[in-house]
Amino acid sequence: MSRIALPQYLANADVAPELQSIILGLADVSINISKSLAKGALAGILGAAGAENVQGEDQKKLDVIANDMIKDALAAIPAVRGLASEEETDVVPCHTNGSFLVTFDPLDGSSNIDINSMVGTIFSVLPHSGTEVVTEQDFLQPGRHQSAAGYVLYGPSVMLVLSIGKGVVMFTLDQDVNNYLMTDAEVAIPADAKEFSINMSNQRHWVAPMQDYIADLMAGKDGPRGKDFNMRWVAAMVADVHRILCRGGLFTYPWDSRKPDQAGKLRLMYEANPMGYLVEQAGGEVWTPDGKILDIQPEHIHQRVPVILGAANEVALCVDYHQR
Ligand code: F6P
Ligand code: MN
Repeated sequence: MSRIALPQYLANADVAPELQSIILGLADVSINISKSLAKGALAGILGAAGAENVQGEDQKKLDVIANDMIKDALAAIPAVRGLASEEETDVVPCHTNGSFLVTFDPLDGSSNIDINSMVGTIFSVLPHSGTEVVTEQDFLQPGRHQSAAGYVLYGPSVMLVLSIGKGVVMFTLDQDVNNYLMTDAEVAIPADAKEFSINMSNQRHWVAPMQDYIADLMAGKDGPRGKDFNMRWVAAMVADVHRILCRGGLFTYPWDSRKPDQAGKLRLMYEANPMGYLVEQAGGEVWTPDGKILDIQPEHIHQRVPVILGAANEVALCVDYHQR
């Protein structure tokens, strides 16, 4: 069976050549990152880098390596006006004629690196319409404005999952020819859920409506929901959302009282927005307790947000517990 390769998909979908160059550039660099990840301890690249990022999190060597690889790849693409990364304190101006801005999380779920578990690269592409030399202000656009979003999941196989605003498609890396080939042409999240995904160890820190909602799921057949739910938590958003795109369910990382001044754990501009774009494009919903995430007007590139995403009916119910 002959499968559609990523460049062919982009050409068939009439994606603007500048945007194609960015998506193909990200795909290429992800193949190099996957090879570094596969070498693991043999390359001496596991473990801590000995520094903290702007979020106050310990950087892993591979966070820094993946960040540098993606930054260099994007900086070489004329269509990129500027970039912003989880691992960069400030936005990085690139080409003054580029029409797009790229935000990315170079290695999401990096606490999984040292246990040889799943990690991924998340990216978001926004149109540029601001100043000649980009400033942070130019990036502060609602997620709804994204021109494309996606991620690469480094798992047993390497997969690139993409939306250019025409649904969600999945590609799998053919390692023999270094090419991403389409393996799912029409990703769809069922409206009802049988699985949920949350870090249960934080239960006592959640607000009462989240405690009630999860308690009702956990009560299963005998509780108000009248059915049993399964639970999964990979501790890498990219892998948990990938499961939801593959077989449905609800994922949430709520606000909790451990850091009361922090809006949540996940970052709006390079985690929630790109993953949210994919989930909406696959027919799911993406909310905070007070509204749709893709409508949020960002105030800061590193801003955080509570996230409830996945199966449309389940997300609506979870939000309803908060709004009652
Ligand atoms: O990027 C933040 C992140 O690593 C997500 O990928 C993941 O969903 C979450 O944090 C895991 O958080 P915790 O360590 O609290 O389970
Ligand atoms: Mn992350």
